[in-house]
Amino acid sequence: MRKVRLTGACAVFAVMAGVAQAAAPHAVGPDAAGIAAAEKRAAATVKAMQPDEKTILTHGIMPLPFGPNSPTPPADAIPGAGYIAGIARLGVPALKESDASLGVSYVSGIRKDGSTALPSGLAQAASWNPALLEQGGAMIGSEARAKGFNVLLAGGVNLTRDPRNGRTFEYLSEDPLLSGHLVGAAIRGIQSNGIISTIKHFALNGQETGRHFVDTKIAEPAARESDLLAFKIGIEQGQPLSVMCSYNRINGAFGCDHDHLLNTVLKKDWGWKGFVMSDWGAVPSLDTAIHGLDQQSGAQLDPKVFFSTELAAKAKADPKWAARLDDMNKRVLTAIYATGLDKNDAKPGVKIDFAKNGEVALESAKQGIVLLKNSGNMLPLAASAKRIAVIGGYAASGVLSGGGSSQTDPEGGPKAVIPLGADGPWANFFSQHYHGTAPVAGIKAQAKNATVTYRDGTIIADAVDQAKKADVAIVFATKWSTEGMDQADFSLPSGQDELIAAVVAANPRTIVVLETGNPVVMPWLDKVPAVLEAWFGGSRGGDAIASVLFGETNPSGRLPITFPASAQQLPRPVLDGYFDFEPDFIGNPPSPDTKLSANYDIEGSDVGYRWFARQKQKALFPFGYGLSYTSFAAEGLKVKGLSASFTVKNTGARSGAYVAQLYLTARGGEARQRLAGFARVELKAGESKPLTLSIDPRILADWTQKGWTIKGGQYSFALGEDAEHLGAAVNTAVAAKTWKD
Ligand code: BGC
Repeated sequence: MRKVRLTGACAVFAVMAGVAQAAAPHAVGPDAAGIAAAEKRAAATVKAMQPDEKTILTHGIMPLPFGPNSPTPPADAIPGAGYIAGIARLGVPALKESDASLGVSYVSGIRKDGSTALPSGLAQAASWNPALLEQGGAMIGSEARAKGFNVLLAGGVNLTRDPRNGRTFEYLSEDPLLSGHLVGAAIRGIQSNGIISTIKHFALNGQETGRHFVDTKIAEPAARESDLLAFKIGIEQGQPLSVMCSYNRINGAFGCDHDHLLNTVLKKDWGWKGFVMSDWGAVPSLDTAIHGLDQQSGAQLDPKVFFSTELAAKAKADPKWAARLDDMNKRVLTAIYATGLDKNDAKPGVKIDFAKNGEVALESAKQGIVLLKNSGNMLPLAASAKRIAVIGGYAASGVLSGGGSSQTDPEGGPKAVIPLGADGPWANFFSQHYHGTAPVAGIKAQAKNATVTYRDGTIIADAVDQAKKADVAIVFATKWSTEGMDQADFSLPSGQDELIAAVVAANPRTIVVLETGNPVVMPWLDKVPAVLEAWFGGSRGGDAIASVLFGETNPSGRLPITFPASAQQLPRPVLDGYFDFEPDFIGNPPSPDTKLSANYDIEGSDVGYRWFARQKQKALFPFGYGLSYTSFAAEGLKVKGLSASFTVKNTGARSGAYVAQLYLTARGGEARQRLAGFARVELKAGESKPLTLSIDPRILADWTQKGWTIKGGQYSFALGEDAEHLGAAVNTAVAAKTWKD
């Protein structure tokens, strides 16, 4: 029996090593020592700068025809989110930025080239597999580099505080430990290509409604123990060289004008050395520089280009501003030197191996699919099925993808585009894209001898007729989501609930495959024997779904987000402002006096499953939930100090992957639920493996003004099948301790 020892940054390294063996080897990104050396070089370059050179790196444009003030981009700019001129005299390259949450973004087809699209953030996170996200990041980074981009706007790690947030699909999870490790791995992968990655959007950017003016209210300890902890772990794990600050206000101040978050938390407390770039159109004033912002992005979207001549004039007049300007330059240069861009810049025109990269997208999609229900072992489907009725979800065209700046479309562009009524440059941005491989093609490839029919599902009587004639019906149900707009509720749109109910009434052998960016409710759940959550599947989504349906892949995804039974269970049953404000991409409040706030102190750091545990609520499907075609047991938990050991066993008849979840369940006898460690383990039928997880002490601690504080006493832990199904608790004594970040 091979002993897998998981120490250090919880389970991550050992599990990573297992997957990394199968992955294409890639270089390693910058580490703390490399960053320190880069900072020294950067300081020397700042000394050599002429005054008029000092505002070149501090602002940039969006080299795209969006907005009335779009400038003519310089010849070397690539259509993408951003461009910051270089300083040739000092050997400093221009920064060429692309959005890259899920792949090198499509920018509405303006660049006319495609990229490999990973499945949505939630899908990737459902793997609970940092090594897979690292591989995905490395793949995206390599494509970006091949297209000439050297800064990626990636690393979205806002906790999914409100499951109706339109960008939930881009983010990873509701838990800071899981999100932090996953985002750090993805960033490590990107930066291993010798390019810069952001982590974003700093911070507490929990909803899209009124995103340019909503004020999120939260007490500091709660923020440090939740959203900020996800960023902190992500920074430790991934060493991102840039942080993108957020649009929203936090306790009054805008994210990009937040002295406390930027100067105190990020730069002083955490000692982070990179540069803070603004989100696009998020800079309200020149004072943001003093409050910690280092670079004004897409400056034509702001009221003014503050970080150019105005900044230079201030620096000339005031030594405090001069020092700040030097620091801004030092930070941007540190990022450039730490990644080696000055010596080995990205150059466009390198051929991309899309077939190879598609394998990464395929594996990510497979590991992310969550089997939610499988009564009577309805799945996997036998390859011997004679007639299969596929219904709905544009399943003959491709898989759904999420909208906004993260939109990535493979080579050849989207397979189907459903316009949603926006005009001009926003028309493509605000439209549903179906792309990648089509589920119907995947199903046909798996069930070679079956007759596979497809109906779009718009006429229920026709879908019912097809279902009746078939051995099995597979309904694809979709719900689009996008940046800039939240979800009003958890229902499936366009009568899909009625469609599913009618189809399953006609043929009880009905499977529902969900392609959604957010949790949904399922009024038909009692009737339908099998349900898969396949999220937004990316370039190879259709193949991945078919592979799981027919059992070539044993599903192993676990929900990284709670699926509530209803909005009433949430801290905010109605999303603040949803019914008051129009969707808003680059906008100001309807009037300067418009006020909107979101009270995050209701749940504090008890985001998602923690809130459900605190309220003793049962979710529709809990965080951590997911079924397999085999069965597992995790047992023999022993906890000593901050080390937990146990054994996981595949008790079924086929190989599969198990996601071990260790939860803190009580502190000093008082209930308190926190994910304390996790590991995804591949196990052959009958195989068992001993695991040791080391527990991040911050999960046990309270954040106070003195730092992290562990109260000495008894701590209870349990292994969980998910956040609601916990094994017997084991107690351990932990000594009191206080320490600074
Ligand atoms: C988004 C960012 C994105 C930027 C550039 C903003 O609207 O919030 O995530 O990186 O645009 O496209």
